[in-house]
Amino acid sequence: MCGIVGYIGNKNSKEILLEGLKELEYRGYDSAGIAVLQNGKFDNFKAVGKLINLEEKTKNFITDKFSVGIGHTRWATHGKPTELNAHPHVGESSYVVHNGIIENYATLKKELQEIGVNFLSQTDTEVIVHQFEKNLRELQNAFQAFEKTVSELQGAYAILLVTKDEPERIFFAKHGSPMLVGINEENEKYFASSDTPLIGHCKEVNYFEDGEYGYVTPQEIKIYGKDTKKRKTHFTKLSTNKLSSQKDGYRFFMEKEIYEQSTVIADTLLGRLGVDEVVFDELDTSLFNGINEIKLCACGTSYHAALCASYMFERYTKIKTSVEVASEFRYRSPIMTKDTLFVVISQSGETADTLETLKMAKEADLKTLVICNVDNSSMVRLADASILTRAGVEKGVASTKAFATQVSVFWMLSLYIAGLRSSMSKEDIAYQISLLREVPASVKVTDTTHERIKRLSKRYLHGHGFFFIGRDIFYPLALEGALKLKEISYLHAEGYPSGEMKHGPIALADPELFTIALLPQHLLYEKAKSNVEELSARDSTICAISALEFDKADDFIAINECRDYMLEFFEMMVVVQLLSLEISIRLGNDVDMPRNLAKSVTVE
Ligand code: M6R
Repeated sequence: MCGIVGYIGNKNSKEILLEGLKELEYRGYDSAGIAVLQNGKFDNFKAVGKLINLEEKTKNFITDKFSVGIGHTRWATHGKPTELNAHPHVGESSYVVHNGIIENYATLKKELQEIGVNFLSQTDTEVIVHQFEKNLRELQNAFQAFEKTVSELQGAYAILLVTKDEPERIFFAKHGSPMLVGINEENEKYFASSDTPLIGHCKEVNYFEDGEYGYVTPQEIKIYGKDTKKRKTHFTKLSTNKLSSQKDGYRFFMEKEIYEQSTVIADTLLGRLGVDEVVFDELDTSLFNGINEIKLCACGTSYHAALCASYMFERYTKIKTSVEVASEFRYRSPIMTKDTLFVVISQSGETADTLETLKMAKEADLKTLVICNVDNSSMVRLADASILTRAGVEKGVASTKAFATQVSVFWMLSLYIAGLRSSMSKEDIAYQISLLREVPASVKVTDTTHERIKRLSKRYLHGHGFFFIGRDIFYPLALEGALKLKEISYLHAEGYPSGEMKHGPIALADPELFTIALLPQHLLYEKAKSNVEELSARDSTICAISALEFDKADDFIAINECRDYMLEFFEMMVVVQLLSLEISIRLGNDVDMPRNLAKSVTVE
C-alpha cells in the first residue's frame, strides 16, 4: 500500500521523484504528490488519480539546482482519495510523506487541535507533520523534534520529512513498512519503499530495520535504533534487473503475493484488535440495529470468502446468514426483507454482477456493507458502509492475498457483531482475537514447505481431474483450492464437501483422479478421514494436507501443529495456493496472466 520516494542532490529532482513514483504506481494510484525544497523555498504539487495527472501539473516546474524532495503515490486508507488527502502533507514549514497507519492519530489530532492546530486533511498522516512542528517549537532542534515525534507514534510507518529549518536533510523513520536508502559516488541520496526506483541511480542500498530513524544529508547518513543509540549502515549491492525487482526476485507476482500474505494480513488486523473486542472505526454500530439476517453476495474467490463468512457469522453472531453467487442473484427475483444486512465482497469493487446486486439491495432499501480492497471503487462509493481489506495492489489474476485478507476481515467482523449482540462471552472473543493475532505467522511460507510442494507438483500434471475436499469452513477452502488450480493450470478441478463423495462424485474415483484432502486436526477430523478412506479404497490418488500423518495417503503435505482449526485453515490455504502455482509453472503456463481471464470483470 502506497509508495514513497525521496531525493537529495544536484540533479533534476522533479524527474527523479516522478520516475520513482512511476515504478511504485502499482502500489496505489488514488493520488500522488511531490514537495521539493530548493533555494530555501518549497514547491508542492498534488493530483488525484494516476501519476500522469501529476506529471501534467508539474510540466512547467523546473528543478535544476541542489534540492531536497519527497514524493508519494497513495492507496487510500484514511480519508477519500482527494487532493487534500494526497501526500505530502504540510505544516507551517515542513512536509511529510508516510506509508502505513498511525494507530493513535485520533488522540494526537485531538491534542493538537486543542492547542489550535488546523488540519486540512482527513488522513492519519497529517498529525506527523504537526506533531513535529509542535516539538520543533519546544525543542528548537529539528533532529530532536523528529526523534520525539517518532517516539510518540504508534502503528506502522515509513516516513520521510523535510523542513525549512534543515534545508539539506531528509528525516526518515521506519517501523513495519518497508524503506531503503541508496547512495552513489555523486553524493546523491535516494529513498524509496522498494528498490525498483533506485535501480540505475544507485549501486548500493541500505534497507532500514524496524524502529530505525535518523536523517540523511549529501555527506552523511545518521541512523538511530529504537533505544536512541547510533546504528551502523549496512549497504548491499542493488540488483540491476527492474522486472525481477518489481517482483522482488519472485518468479511471478502470484508467488510474491502468496509470500506477502503475512504482511498484508498484519496490515488488515492493524488497529482493529483489542483484548476482548474488535474495533472497526469505519462502522457505525447502528448499521446492525434491527438486523435479523445477513446476506452475502459475490463472485469467484470473493464468493468463497463469503462462504467462509457464513460459517463464522452463524457460529459466532447467531444471525441467520446466506450466501449468493452474484450473477444468479441478479436474475432470480430474490425476496429482500428490510431486516437483512446486504454484504457484497469484492477485491476490485468493480465486478459488474456484484455491483448490480448492491444496486438492487439499495433500491430495496436494505442496509448495505462492502468488504473491498480498493477504496473509492464503485462499490465503496455506493454502499452505506465499507471495510477495506488492505491487501495492497494484487497483480496476479489468480487472487491469493485478497482472499486471505477477506477471510481475516470476516473473522473480525463476526466477532465485532458478536460483541454488539453479546452472542459470545468476552472470554471467547478474547480467545478468538488471540488466534487472529497468530494468523500473520501461520501464513509465512517456509522453505521446507515450498520445496516439498515444488517436488510433489511433478506428480500432478496429468490425470483426468482433481477433487479438493473438506468439511465445514474447509469446504469453501476446497472450492478455492480447486478454482486456483483450474485458473492457472487449466486442469479440471472441483471442490466438494467431503461428505458428498458417496452421493455421486466417488463414481469418478480411480488412480488418475487426484484427491486433495484437507484434514484439519481440530475440526471433524475422524469424519473427514473416513471420507478420504472411502476414496482411497477406490484407488483415487490421495494427497493429504494435515498436521497428522495419514497412512492411507499416497502423498502427504504436513502443516504445523496448530492450537485451533482456524489457524490450520490459513496454513492449508497457503499450501493449496503453492500447489497450484507449482503445477502451473511446471506446465509452462503464464501464471500471472492465465488464458481467457481478466483481473477485473466489469462486464456481466
Ligand atoms: O474483484 P472481485 O473480487 O469482485 O472479483 C471476483 C472474481 O472475478 C475473482 O475473484 C476471480 O474469481 C479471480 N480470478 C479468482 O482468482
